Amino acid sequence: MNIMIIGGGGREHAVAWKVAQSPLCTKLYCAPGNAGIAEVAECVDIQVMDFDSQVKFAKEHDVDLVIVGPDDPLAKGAVDAFEDAGIKAFGPHANAAVIEASKVFSKDLMKKYKIPTAAYETFDKDTDAIEYLKNKASFPVVLKADGLALGKGVLICNNLSEALDGVKELMEDKKFGSAGNRIVVEEFMTGPEVSVLCFCDGKTIKPMTSAMDHKRAKDNDEGLNTGGMGNISPSPFYTDDIADFCMEKIYKPTMAAMQAEGRPFKGVLFVGLMLTEKGPKVLEYNARFGDPEAEVVLPRMKSDIVEIFEHCVDGTLNEVNLQFEDNAAVCVVLASDGYPLSYEKEKPVTVSDGFKKEGYELFHAGSKMKDGVLVTNGGRVFDVVATGKDIIEARKKAYEATEWVNFSNKYMRHDIGNKAIEGLNKYRKRNK
Ligand code: AMP
Ligand code: GLY
Repeated sequence: MNIMIIGGGGREHAVAWKVAQSPLCTKLYCAPGNAGIAEVAECVDIQVMDFDSQVKFAKEHDVDLVIVGPDDPLAKGAVDAFEDAGIKAFGPHANAAVIEASKVFSKDLMKKYKIPTAAYETFDKDTDAIEYLKNKASFPVVLKADGLALGKGVLICNNLSEALDGVKELMEDKKFGSAGNRIVVEEFMTGPEVSVLCFCDGKTIKPMTSAMDHKRAKDNDEGLNTGGMGNISPSPFYTDDIADFCMEKIYKPTMAAMQAEGRPFKGVLFVGLMLTEKGPKVLEYNARFGDPEAEVVLPRMKSDIVEIFEHCVDGTLNEVNLQFEDNAAVCVVLASDGYPLSYEKEKPVTVSDGFKKEGYELFHAGSKMKDGVLVTNGGRVFDVVATGKDIIEARKKAYEATEWVNFSNKYMRHDIGNKAIEGLNKYRKRNK
């Protein structure tokens, strides 16, 4: 098969790396790709929102299957554009990608179909939001921009004054543009967070192994929210009992709800969960692989990903036996110092041979070649990934491998996996 991936980050590198291992793949393209993806695919200089050029390229090169990575093109109908041109595409249609693109839609869906999530109210007028916050809210409270905001449109406000500032930021100053035309005001929850990515074919849903993101920029979960500074898989908090509960009360009901709404969901449904004292609740849905969740989940996947993509597109996912290794993976993101605010790019990079060893991978998140030299080209630059028999071993290997990549403004967190390891010890003690 000729296969094309849309996107150019660490997630797309992990997907490309996995697709390239499939005996079903004869030729792999990636638009636009990056310097790391170029090692496993032919990169094509077409941007992610340029559907016309993507479709034209796919037709000219007899592409049999397209995989759309990022949220923006999915929300704007990339999959619809390929299908209209008679090309198979993996990912949700725009009418289903709305489960990520509109928080109001996803909250109302959960309420209507009784899927566990935080209590909430929605507002399209700032005056109404302010009145509610002054009279009815308890604190902390969570404010969420309705639309896509690069994972940054969520504000946790400890008191009324922070909440009023938040409403101004989202609804008046329009910090995230039209994404803040409506907001969700939500109950604050606590507990470990788990990311579960699920393959879906419109009817059947098959969860992959779990992962745990580290969203804040600095150690000990301090600093600003980012796209993710590291990840581990599996999450030790996500026990078999919790997985069974989520299957019956969250995953299957979500699939059925989307079908009932006339928006059958095909592609990867990413369920962000919080394991509260009252049970697992949905924090958010995403309509795609997580980044860097994909970077820890896919290296643990035994199954042929191309076969699964085809079953999802064809509506035959029930025939698939999805399998993962009984091991663990840890990803440490190497960022440009200053991310997620401002940072310098085009710093020359050196990479040692260590990554040729079994159990180590270097996925590129933001890199490019300039005059024959590998340079940085983004806030998140590399995802250093290692696998091991458990999180402790994988973490040790991943941190060892972070020394193998160097550039002048390299920044990383030093505590990826720590919370999980402490959690694991508590779980072991409690379960003895
Ligand atoms: P979201 O984009 O909805 O996943 O929110 C981003 C992050 O904000 C989550 O990963 C949580 O850490 C935090 N968050 C979102 N909603 C809540 C909530 N209701 N209570 C506590 N934290 C939340
Ligand atoms: N790592 C979180 C996300 O992909 O949204």
